[in-house]
Amino acid sequence: MTDYYSIAAIPGDGIGVDVSVEARKVLDRAAELHEFGLQWTEFDWSCERYTQTGAMMPEDGVDQLAKFDGIFLGAVGFPGVPDHVSLWGLLIPLRRAFAQYVNLRPVRLLPGTRSVLEGRDAAELEMVIVRENSEGEYSAIGGRHNTGQASEFVLQESVFTRVGVQRIIRYAFELARTRSGRVCSATKSNGLIHSMPYWDENFAEIAAEYPDVQSEQCHVDALAARMVQQPDRLDVVVASNLFGDILSDLAAAVTGGLGMAPSGNINPPGEYPSMFEAVHGSAPDIAGQGIANPVAQVLAGVMMLEHLGEPVAARAVNAAVEKVLADGEVATPDLGGKSTTAELGTAIAAALG
Ligand code: NAI
Ligand code: MG
Repeated sequence: MTDYYSIAAIPGDGIGVDVSVEARKVLDRAAELHEFGLQWTEFDWSCERYTQTGAMMPEDGVDQLAKFDGIFLGAVGFPGVPDHVSLWGLLIPLRRAFAQYVNLRPVRLLPGTRSVLEGRDAAELEMVIVRENSEGEYSAIGGRHNTGQASEFVLQESVFTRVGVQRIIRYAFELARTRSGRVCSATKSNGLIHSMPYWDENFAEIAAEYPDVQSEQCHVDALAARMVQQPDRLDVVVASNLFGDILSDLAAAVTGGLGMAPSGNINPPGEYPSMFEAVHGSAPDIAGQGIANPVAQVLAGVMMLEHLGEPVAARAVNAAVEKVLADGEVATPDLGGKSTTAELGTAIAAALG
């Protein structure tokens, strides 16, 4: 009997479209070889749709996606549409409606690629950022007041709930048990005197439940420096929404670059679909040139296959990516080559056999 998975594809804007096409090519080949089916339904939700209709997605967008087994997102955002409109009109509502409270961002140095950090090898550059994805600093609470007057001011509130903080920290400890057994928590309790001491308090409480896992906390500024100077001291890093967002771009940059970093927006209980995407955005500076690196999006597909329960196919795609990168013959400009997005996607699909 063949298993079929229904996937909602939202290619989005800019290079999100280019890399999604190539990732789907690879995933479809993997499905064919491993005898399961991926049934794609494509949605044109994007900044282009916004400029035509005034909305990134239809009003019942969340309901339309709820029945799918997974969501495969390219990237959204394009010049002409403010970034807060594209983000709050699509990505953030989906993450929240589907309780995708974990944003999992694994990074590692892939074969055939070099780190910007001189002399660091793959074993020293393997980590995962566990980013809180449903609350924290990314809150809609606040506002602009006394607009246009000399006394004009804005307020931007953060929200940290006990449930929200505890579930993300617990997720990080569980994950550490399957990896190195080490967790580092990003804090800033010296500057943010309400939210971060509360985060730290909950971290200490949960750490006590996991005596087998080594835990420590580090101010986020010092943690950023450590990521560059002593990346081997980090494995699982748990962070609030904003800190995790920033640290994961840094983590991607010190390993293979933004073109190589995947991410999953996970609803751990599986009540709702999870959503997989690259860490990078729509890269308007190279959009339409056919030179974006599709590897991050392909690896987002690997995370989706694992989540769907196809670990063998996931490992095969991962191996195909590693083989093509190690060969080095087909490489996009960010990897030092001259190949196109499509050539790299095709090479990875072919390496599956
Ligand atoms: P970006 O990640 O799109 O680009 C940053 C830099 O990295 C650019 O120079 C770009 O050319 C390069 N780059 C990124 N991905 C690459 C790839 N696959 N291959 C080769 N080079 C790559 O970040 P930026 O410029 O800050 O944002 C552009 C737009 O994307 C904005 O509208 C932003 O809001 C949106 N965005 C959307 C995200 C999402 O949909 N999840 C995440 C991050 C940004
Ligand atoms: Mg980001």
